Amino acid sequence: MLIRTKRDWELPESAATPESAYINRRAMMVGAGAIAGGLALGGRGAMAADAPGRNPVYTLDRAMTPEAAATSYNNFYEFGTSKDVVSAAQKMPLRPWTLRIDGLVEKPMTLGIDDLLKAMPVEERLYRHRCVEAWAMAVPWMGFPLAKLVAFAKPLSSATYVELQTFGRDVYPAPGLRQPFYPWPYVEGLTMAEATNELAFLSTGLYGKPLQAQNGAPLRLTLPWKYGFKSVKSVVRISFTDKRPKTFWALLNADEYGFWANVNPAVPHPRWSQARERLLGSNESVPTQIFNGYGAQVAGLYKGLEKEALFM
Ligand code: MTE
Repeated sequence: MLIRTKRDWELPESAATPESAYINRRAMMVGAGAIAGGLALGGRGAMAADAPGRNPVYTLDRAMTPEAAATSYNNFYEFGTSKDVVSAAQKMPLRPWTLRIDGLVEKPMTLGIDDLLKAMPVEERLYRHRCVEAWAMAVPWMGFPLAKLVAFAKPLSSATYVELQTFGRDVYPAPGLRQPFYPWPYVEGLTMAEATNELAFLSTGLYGKPLQAQNGAPLRLTLPWKYGFKSVKSVVRISFTDKRPKTFWALLNADEYGFWANVNPAVPHPRWSQARERLLGSNESVPTQIFNGYGAQVAGLYKGLEKEALFM
């Protein structure tokens, strides 16, 4: 992965305005746990009857990343290899946007993104995100569990993997797609067990607002226990298959950016340590945790596979 040495994400605090997070009445009513969860986040929760509910199960061990940092320091190679892709990405029309669901499913289908969203139960989740480049953020995503989409797609029992694909030049001729060095389109994949794990999420919003193009609008995978490159943006196709998908970064360099890509502080990238991470929006450096701190939810997926799945 192309790494810039200039830490342009180290925004001064003054440049960053934290967005109020929203907790809706329903989430607040779930019980004392929900209320405590909301208040534990620095009392930032604001009641907003129309905002989707925050799922109180997913709490953070750190401050939320300022919105300005999370929405201005991005990796989106379709729009170039710099972190500053906002203006290029925001030229891309987000409607109409169709999603193709195919492969080993009962009935392949193509549907408009808004029809899909109407069928899915939107919630908000606070998740940490750890990029393989050793920066990290903690943000409130809105969206729905990938497991809900898997159920909606009705895969055949022979399906063992899910492959998710970003738009190609046929959908939008983003400038980076002219770069022939990269194996476009950007593809990522998961085993079915990973895809149906409770943490696997499809994001449609961030900080209580519709997702912006630079963060992967209108539909972006979010996998908090894996390095960020697995979280494929601006998805146009979801295919069910019985073959391990040939993923974008693994095609480029499987030793550095493998299929599993589970966060593991003990396995360094060939060119840098993964033991610590820099928090986007501040200069703070904190230790990286195995599975990015989500071992309780996902370690069981890799029983017997540790040598492979925890290496890269
Ligand atoms: N998806 C596509 N299509 N293209 C990309 O270049 N970069 C990945 C991932 N998804 C990328 C992508 C990487 S390396 C990371 S760390 C995250 O998106 C960054 O997400 P963010 O910009 O919303 O923080």
